[in-house]
Amino acid sequence: MTSQVRGAQLARLLGQWHALPGRRRSPDYAALAGAVRGLLADGRLPLGVRLPAERELAEALKISRTTVTAAYRELRETGHLASRRGAGSWTMLPGTHRVASTGLWTPLDDRDMIDLGVAALAAPPELLPAARAAAEDLPRYLGGAGYHPTGIIELREAVADAYTDRGLPTSPDQIMVTNGTQHALDLVLRLALAPGGNVLVEAPSYPNALAALAARRARITTHGLALEEPGWDADLLLGGLRQTRPKLAYLIPDFQNPTGHLMPAALRERVVATAHAVGTDLVVDESFVDLPLDGTVLPPPTASFDRHSRVVTIGGMSKPFWGGLRIGWVRASAPQVQRLAAARVGVDMASPVLDQLVAVHLLADAPAIVAARRAQLTAQRDALLTALAQRLPEWRVTVPHGGVTLWAELDGPISSALARAAEEVGVRLAPGPRFGLDGTLERFLRLPFTLPAADLVEAVGRIAAVRYDLDRGGRSQWREPAVIA
Ligand SMILES: Cc1ncc(COP(=O)(O)O)c(C=O)c1O
Repeated sequence: MTSQVRGAQLARLLGQWHALPGRRRSPDYAALAGAVRGLLADGRLPLGVRLPAERELAEALKISRTTVTAAYRELRETGHLASRRGAGSWTMLPGTHRVASTGLWTPLDDRDMIDLGVAALAAPPELLPAARAAAEDLPRYLGGAGYHPTGIIELREAVADAYTDRGLPTSPDQIMVTNGTQHALDLVLRLALAPGGNVLVEAPSYPNALAALAARRARITTHGLALEEPGWDADLLLGGLRQTRPKLAYLIPDFQNPTGHLMPAALRERVVATAHAVGTDLVVDESFVDLPLDGTVLPPPTASFDRHSRVVTIGGMSKPFWGGLRIGWVRASAPQVQRLAAARVGVDMASPVLDQLVAVHLLADAPAIVAARRAQLTAQRDALLTALAQRLPEWRVTVPHGGVTLWAELDGPISSALARAAEEVGVRLAPGPRFGLDGTLERFLRLPFTLPAADLVEAVGRIAAVRYDLDRGGRSQWREPAVIA
């Protein structure tokens, strides 16, 4: 079934399309086509939706139908629109692009593109030896059918031990191995949230978590994070829980994506107690918990304050080790794990045995691998911060003491426009609105420090160049933004 966007809806999404950078140089139809491409690039206009008929959009935008006709023609020519006479026009991406894990589009053939849309490291050198060792282990499993819905016991033991070492006693039957943390979240939501259920999330938050919630048609309320540490406002967060009594809250207390904030122990304790009092289940995403920087001491795990099985913790290998491994997990009560495993059988049965064995070998080597990752991330973060201070001193950032991203407050509501302009000079950015709802957060930009320092410095140079070009395109255009977070 194709969904459709109405003229008035698209007009609202397009906002001040006629005032986008470079506008003075291009005719109306080209500006309109460019704005639609921008919405597609930001993921704000989905792929495969039917655009309004030309007349309807012309009326909604109060422009001539000829302009819309010309814009649609250009979009067809650039491969962003498919049309069939009598049936309408659908959004698409050109054949040379793919949709990246972030939902952003990536030209396949552009090797010069510096991709700051994805916040993940390349694989560590230990990965290949771990894969070879895993292959050696495989014969131990070949005598069985290979389906282990909660995961192979060796990996569940290793993951459970890691929690116990962090001060959260955990047995292997409290662990279910998944195909990445995102899969863990999706499974937990299937089980814990009826379609249309009420959910509280941080704003900004991880875009693919928002996508998973959207798939459950969740009704989302947000808790806005401050740029400054600690980010969460205790009164507002606890008050929000008490007022909206959500079925579920999705939180990233350990080096939050994208802000990098770390929730203090006292607030963790109060959040768990309040959630229990109002009947809210907490899903705690610990994707970045292994990556404290600057000697930062971690507060106790959020689940360590839980006495009533209110907290389900999800985590995985992607950030400290490698995203391509696709290994994550859920930590919950043993009965909850059994229910998740039963739900999973209807989805994907089990995780690949070989990949789980690779994970076992990597976890056995975790202290050395993770120490090297932290050193690498610290150096890259510092290079990024220095480049930003030199080239874009008007931007405000908090220095993240862990994780892989920093969250910058820009000198205007320009994030999407900047991302579009940066794409032209070979830098892919994930603009602020991707981390929130309803097109807010235009003043913000997430910058990961997962690429080599030289790439980060080069990227900041290119971003700075196009940022000042936006000014030359007419700064007054941005004085009255359509939406500001
Ligand atoms: C907060 C958060 N949760 C989940 C994920 C997805 O992780 P995985 O690759 O393990 O599915 C990410 C990856 O960026 C993330 O940042």
